[in-house]
Amino acid sequence: MVAALSLSVDFHIERTGVSHAPMKATINEIEIDYRDEGSGVPVVLIHAFPLNQSMWDDQFSHLRDHCRMISLDLRGFGRSDAPHSAYSIDEMALDVRGLMTALEIDRAVLVGLSMGGYIALAFFRNYPEAVRGLVLADTRAGADTPEARERRFTSALKAEREGSRAIGEDMVPLLLGRTTLETRPSVVEKVRMMIEGNSPQGIAGAQRAMAERRDSSNMLSVIDVPVLIVVGSEDTLTPVAKAERMQNGIRGALLRIIDDAGHLSNLEQPEEFNAALIDFIASAQT
Ligand code: MLT
Repeated sequence: MVAALSLSVDFHIERTGVSHAPMKATINEIEIDYRDEGSGVPVVLIHAFPLNQSMWDDQFSHLRDHCRMISLDLRGFGRSDAPHSAYSIDEMALDVRGLMTALEIDRAVLVGLSMGGYIALAFFRNYPEAVRGLVLADTRAGADTPEARERRFTSALKAEREGSRAIGEDMVPLLLGRTTLETRPSVVEKVRMMIEGNSPQGIAGAQRAMAERRDSSNMLSVIDVPVLIVVGSEDTLTPVAKAERMQNGIRGALLRIIDDAGHLSNLEQPEEFNAALIDFIASAQT
């Protein structure tokens, strides 16, 4: 079940600043930007598409007193390199594994939101011994339908031809719930800026990687670590029914529905999301 490391992992780490400043690690021959704060149980946060690790700012500020918080800009996003080669979800999981190795972390709680959840599931498939618990937020286990794959290929081309701003215009109304869109302009702006700050080739690469991702539904029944599933009540991309289906497939999985939040539940209702995470991490500690 454990896949061999097929790409090289370089352990060179360069700390470029203090506290919130970016930190860089060379992982699988590219520069990955990451954050590592706090102490205790390691918790690795894996961001959504097409955002970056700053989507976890509210989690860092509230949880670093409870545990060791690590996040990264996935390849193609934020301040990490965006190679022109094809990306895959397994390769992104390998990048996460490489960062953990470089930071001398053997086992961690993985928190993946949406695309981050696809990566967390791939990580569990490939490196189950390195997983202490899973938080699967606003995500799904299944692969894409043929129609959804086609939409991704079209969107990848659009990113390459029209740029990141065009993708932001398409995605912001889908990512955020009705309540946030109507009442929280600063959150809307933050999400828009994250998307526009990404390179078109990173966005296109990740879309194509998601289109090709494996179906993880059959793996749910073998997950043997504590699992928390989180979903925003207004999430239309991965709605509550999908979260419930995932919960039914994973023995002992807990489900937390976050009111007045859409697909980006951690950004839209950080207090509730953080409370759910703190409870879960405390239980994963025992
Ligand atoms: C995400 O938020 O990561 C995306 O909605 C995932 C997807 O497009 O399937």
